[in-house]
Amino acid sequence: MLNLDKIRKDFPILSRKVNGNQLVYLDNAATTQKPKPVLDQIVKFYTSVNSNVHRGMHHLSKQASLLYEQARKTVQEFINAKDSKEIIFTNSATGAINLVADSFGDAFIKQGDEIIVTEMEHHSNIIPWQKICRKKGASLKVLPITEQETLNLNKLKELINKKTKLISITYISNVLGIVNPVKKIIDLAHIHNVCVLVDGAQAIQHLPVDVQKLDCDFFVFSGHKIYAETGIGVLYGKEKWLNEMPPYQSGGGMIESVKFDKTNYAKLPLKFEAGTGNFAAAISLKASLDYLNNLNKNKIFSYERRLMDYALEKLKSIDGLTIYGKSTKRYGAISFNLYNIHPYDLGVILDQLGIAVRTGTHCAEPLMAYYKVKGTIRASFSFYNTKKEVDQLAEGIQKAQTILLASSIS
Ligand code: ALA
Repeated sequence: MLNLDKIRKDFPILSRKVNGNQLVYLDNAATTQKPKPVLDQIVKFYTSVNSNVHRGMHHLSKQASLLYEQARKTVQEFINAKDSKEIIFTNSATGAINLVADSFGDAFIKQGDEIIVTEMEHHSNIIPWQKICRKKGASLKVLPITEQETLNLNKLKELINKKTKLISITYISNVLGIVNPVKKIIDLAHIHNVCVLVDGAQAIQHLPVDVQKLDCDFFVFSGHKIYAETGIGVLYGKEKWLNEMPPYQSGGGMIESVKFDKTNYAKLPLKFEAGTGNFAAAISLKASLDYLNNLNKNKIFSYERRLMDYALEKLKSIDGLTIYGKSTKRYGAISFNLYNIHPYDLGVILDQLGIAVRTGTHCAEPLMAYYKVKGTIRASFSFYNTKKEVDQLAEGIQKAQTILLASSIS
């Protein structure tokens, strides 16, 4: 069992008030709160170590470089990558997808090729592929959602052909909180020699991830969604691909030698880390992963599962609430609308009650088009949330309903 009282004390922001009410933070899919060990690590780093990494022989630089490489090792172990050189630090999950789209695209996508994404992707997993398709004369194919609101593997089989070069798919939908059958998709893709990128931005904090078992070619996630600082992302890539892919950005730190007639690039992983990256945030990511490991991430994940079941049941019992997606098993997020009330109106009232949820299209406009809605309200949960907070959300929705329906009648 998790000691929730103790855990909540680790996250100082959870004790603050918003609009005179105790904060109920249910926007974890947008960003997570930071525990004290992460906050302490940030302060400690800047007060006693701060120095650029891999750029100096002085004491502080060596210490910072060591911490940075330890962070890489911790990430490697957290997702069970074969080697730490397969871990590239980027500025975000979006940055990691852009890196692959540009660099893999440069090396392996040619005119007439096809890339497949799904109808439930975040814009970050659509637009970079649109750009590379436009540049190379390739085309983007879309795996639609079925009536059961899952992905249809038979449809995927129909979409894959000799021109397919890559499938890029979200592990967990940031809107629906449903898990996609990524392992089955990867196995199917590999039969046809097609690479798979898994967008793990909403999965890494809710599921055990083992990239070797998944056998994905690429896996991306963001630090800020797993309790670390903002401005750090991770790209995992199989070494064979990363070795064959050209650098994405170029500049300091990614070279072995530079002459005006020829530059030799650094080996992995630095080949993909041009310029001064957010090394302090990478080190904060180590602190957050250590924190989760110390608490026991499996216990965290199973608590979250139970909380999500409770939240789904609770929300289902509210009259007039439409919950999007048919799956009874949600990870992290649930999206809904109340009657035909505009999500912003409901969101504003919840905010007055101190309840933070996200409203709008959630950077997933194609999915909104599928549901024919302008937007939804999304409540997204973490292991520091409680059943009491779920109840507060349900009560808040009911209060908002009374207020909004009364004002629409008067
Ligand atoms: N990608 C984040 C979300 O879904 C910001 O809210």
